[in-house]
Amino acid sequence: MTKTVIKGGTIVTADLTYKADVLVEGGQIIEIGPDLAGDKVLDAEGCYVMPGGIDPHTHLEMPFMGTYSADDFDAGTAAAVAGGTTMVIDFALPNPGESMLDALKKWDNKAARAHCDYSFHMAVTWWGEQVFDEMKIITERGINSFKHFMAYKGSLMVNDDELFASFKRCAELGALPMVHAENGDVVAEMSARLLAEGNTGPEAHAYSRPTIVEGEATNRAIMIADMAGVPLYVVHTSCEESHEAIRRAKMLGKRVYGEPLIQHLVLDESEYFDKDWDHSARRVMSPPFRNKQHQDSLWAGLASGTLSCVATDHCAFTTEQKRYGVGDFTKIPNGTGGLEDRMPMLWTYGVNTGRITMNEFVAVTSTNIAKIMNIYPKKGAVLVGADADLVVWDPEASKVVSAKTQVSSIDYNVFEGKEVKGLPRYTLSRGVVAAVEGRVEAPEGHGQFVARPPGTAVSKALSTWKELTAPRPVVRAGIPASGV
Ligand code: URP
Ligand code: ZN
Ligand code: ZN
Ligand code: ZN
Repeated sequence: MTKTVIKGGTIVTADLTYKADVLVEGGQIIEIGPDLAGDKVLDAEGCYVMPGGIDPHTHLEMPFMGTYSADDFDAGTAAAVAGGTTMVIDFALPNPGESMLDALKKWDNKAARAHCDYSFHMAVTWWGEQVFDEMKIITERGINSFKHFMAYKGSLMVNDDELFASFKRCAELGALPMVHAENGDVVAEMSARLLAEGNTGPEAHAYSRPTIVEGEATNRAIMIADMAGVPLYVVHTSCEESHEAIRRAKMLGKRVYGEPLIQHLVLDESEYFDKDWDHSARRVMSPPFRNKQHQDSLWAGLASGTLSCVATDHCAFTTEQKRYGVGDFTKIPNGTGGLEDRMPMLWTYGVNTGRITMNEFVAVTSTNIAKIMNIYPKKGAVLVGADADLVVWDPEASKVVSAKTQVSSIDYNVFEGKEVKGLPRYTLSRGVVAAVEGRVEAPEGHGQFVARPPGTAVSKALSTWKELTAPRPVVRAGIPASGV
């Protein structure tokens, strides 16, 4: 077996920075130390050697709003490795009434084309005995997280009683519930009113989903998770109201994780007021981009640890697809790309500006995600025995983001024209060189499914505590506890 040595670099993990070589064989890291030798040498002089990025939130070839997101597992994961990401976690979505097992089969088939490793979250889009039963089978198949949409009324949305039932089932199974937190009833009502009043353009998308709508849903989901005795993961946390709810819950000892997107950290609501309809529509996603104060809140959350991960929610639609919504903003497919740019953008706007440290960068792009998703230290670590999913990061390399040079298959880039400094020289996926300076080398189909078992230490600790503090009848002399 070939031994590959990554030579001359500085290893950066979530908690350490030190100079050492890394020796890789059979897809894993087999040695870390000075002066290592191998059959193949990758020059890391002047570079940082970090765990490859893990994107915990993608929608590749997602059926949504009458179409499919344009980047599939081929194009999407090619974009991922080009940008230093070595694993994606996508959402398997059963149609309301559809079996989770059937949905999983579809996602298994789509993902067979992946250039890097992948896993799935399973969405709970309806409720019934079948869903209750299948959730157990799904966890046995290595999927330990269940996503709930509190928005998209009439399609993916579930109500509070369904949320509570599903969260309680997650608690029993040691699984992690996730929420898209927006009040779907209010959004639906506001959208209809805006349209009726003649607000048909993409700017109305932002008006229809104010921050308080997200904050309310986040608070509600936190309460329901607390009642169910289960941790909670809030996807695409975009504003102070939602962050505040998460921060407060954490300070109260609740196990809640918040995930800002790179788009919300860097782009603001002015994008929706551009005179060019296409420009604004291309940036329509839910929740929408917010103002600078909200961005500051998200950055502060990453620095303080009240927010845990940075994702992309990569759900890329072409301009042609976005134009389905000309004359009616509610028909613009919701979603933006970002897989290729998350790492360089976060490095540039986070590490280079001093908003976060290099170690925090590793934590929020990889290690925290691996821990929350229960795949650490197989993923998210530079340790002997870990998968050799690594990125050799050149802090001096720079480029201007452009749709003309991107790997993603769509015809624009929401970060167009931004200069990034800090780029992957090599991306390694299980020891295979998956990309060199942005050129993809790992073949289609190289990616493997990564099973994520239920029962994290956090979920076990929480259920122990909930059991200990559960309501118990007071035993009183002469009065039966049952009240009979
Ligand atoms: O607008 C978005 N975020 N599209 C993808 C689906 C979702 O809500 O995550
Ligand atoms: Zn490909
Ligand atoms: Zn969402
Ligand atoms: Zn999403």
